[in-house]
Amino acid sequence: MAEGEPGLPTGETSGARAEVTGAPSHMPGTEIPQVDVHSHLIPGVDDGARDEAMALAMLQVASADGTRIIAATPHAGEVHPEAIPGAVRRLNELARAAEIPIEVIPGCEYKLSRALGDEHKLGRLMTLNGTPYVLVELPDWNQWPNSVGESITSLRDDGLWPILAHPERHPPVQRCPELVLEAVQVGALVQLNAGSFLGYNGREAQRAAVLLLSARAAHLIASDAHHPEARPPRVADALARAAALAGEEYVRWMRWAAMRVVTGEPVELPEPDLQALRLRESWLERIRDWLANP
Ligand SMILES: [Fe+2]
Repeated sequence: MAEGEPGLPTGETSGARAEVTGAPSHMPGTEIPQVDVHSHLIPGVDDGARDEAMALAMLQVASADGTRIIAATPHAGEVHPEAIPGAVRRLNELARAAEIPIEVIPGCEYKLSRALGDEHKLGRLMTLNGTPYVLVELPDWNQWPNSVGESITSLRDDGLWPILAHPERHPPVQRCPELVLEAVQVGALVQLNAGSFLGYNGREAQRAAVLLLSARAAHLIASDAHHPEARPPRVADALARAAALAGEEYVRWMRWAAMRVVTGEPVELPEPDLQALRLRESWLERIRDWLANP
């Protein structure tokens, strides 16, 4: 293992999706910068920052939380992808003028579809910082489509590395967290929302987030920030909670993986602990049933 590279905590990887991993190209042996791969910072385009003042306030909150690199990922369909790089340049100018030590990088949050591969071939897809990584969410809030595995496989065949955004927020995943394995097993990274961990998205989302992380079927924690206070760009508390659950070593690996994402380097995913997911699920169900009917 190269110097500075956190090892995979489980010691095992899935051969099906293993990528060749070398030493991280950034500052080996030093602290890994805090990276947030999901936020709605660009003013006036979606339900995120309303204006530049709010975007700047969000950058201040993110920086105070320890984030050094944050991706601006507006909802696709609510913004023209061509407008994103200019908006990101402007946010970086604002941050520099306000002496906020943070870098904003471009991205976009797409609905999962194999058609994104065609957009990519045409050079029209707004991937994360121009890397092969693309942030995708489930197309339907209340449904886990039976095409998830196929779509992710198709995108990977088209040279993309999909990151599935906040599956724990979707009711089908809350009922059955194992669904996420369909995405992980064909190579998707899974991103949990920091707010879900902390209980801000309800107990069901929190429970799903905890289960997925405990089973190492989640690889990134991001803010999905929309506002400086109501949905803030904070990840440090959630990472600390994650360390208490999954161990410091795993969280160090997650921080390293987030850095690899924004620098466009492959990430070798840990083998999910299916047993932990299933056993803990049934165990929690029993407790919940008992609490409901003592
Ligand atoms: Fe989002």
